[in-house]
Amino acid sequence: MPVAPQRKLSAASAPTAVGARGVPATGTAPGAWSGAGSRQGFGATERGDAWWFKPVLQAAGLIVLIGYANYAAFLGAAHYRYLENGRDYLSPFYSPYIHPAWLPVWLSPALLILVFPLGFRATCYYYRKAYYRSFFADPIACAVGEPRQAYCGEVKFPFLLQNLHRYFLYAALVFLVILWIDVVKAFIFSAPALAAAAPAVTSALGLHAAREAASGGHYLAIGGGSLAILFSTGMLTLYTLSCHSLRHLVGGKLDCFSCAAAGGPRHKTWSIVTVLNGHHMAWAWWSLFAVCFADFLVRMCSIGVIHDPTLATFRHLLEMPNRSLSLLR
Ligand code: FES
Repeated sequence: MPVAPQRKLSAASAPTAVGARGVPATGTAPGAWSGAGSRQGFGATERGDAWWFKPVLQAAGLIVLIGYANYAAFLGAAHYRYLENGRDYLSPFYSPYIHPAWLPVWLSPALLILVFPLGFRATCYYYRKAYYRSFFADPIACAVGEPRQAYCGEVKFPFLLQNLHRYFLYAALVFLVILWIDVVKAFIFSAPALAAAAPAVTSALGLHAAREAASGGHYLAIGGGSLAILFSTGMLTLYTLSCHSLRHLVGGKLDCFSCAAAGGPRHKTWSIVTVLNGHHMAWAWWSLFAVCFADFLVRMCSIGVIHDPTLATFRHLLEMPNRSLSLLR
């Protein structure tokens, strides 16, 4: 496909001094240069491929997954956690779970923490590209006419807020630690408290043993929900560790690794993040899907629609307070 050369638009929009108001660090004023598609009618193009397919697919994916996330966060506060049959599954939309006494009953606790994951995704370089194209058609695709001729970049409110991405990254790293704790909890099942529930058990075990049984115990196990929560946090970890801002932070901003403090480890870390960063788009989608899926599974178990299967148990790996419990099960 022949590519039209870039052209300079006007003297007024020529490169401007770095630091001038509204001019990004590159020194090139927004709109100073344009390529094929610019100054053409909306949708006009010489492209012969299905250029519209990707923006439409992205829009559909974002509407479905973000629509579900909104439902879960705003309306789903009744079933965010599954605490039966020894499980402790917490929906990732509600982690960390904060529910102060002053919170009105009609307000979901997920909304107290939503700003961090939402801000992280909304300011993500990949998602920006996706929703600018799919929802603002700005640009809708390479070398395709846009619905507007003016281009102001991200130098005005509210797009200036995109610069907060690195701060949302710091929050996301903290959230990851919390989410991994939830993963551990999802793999630790609790044994039921027997003595209080079943007097027959008390007489069979004796009072002392029954008291021990009543305290319950814990063991390692794998349930369907454990895997869903692991998948969700694993994908979120890959998404976060492949962040462009993180790549810049760990080494991308350096001109010379061997001249910098801890240059060797930083180069190694930067190399790993760079490999992950090459698949950032994939992690962005997989993580969004995985979080919604984990929430969905927890919700279905909590409502009783799905019976969470126990896939494996490893009782010998985590000691129980009372071995007689295992005899009874
Ligand atoms: S650039 Fe996508 S998460 Fe940072």
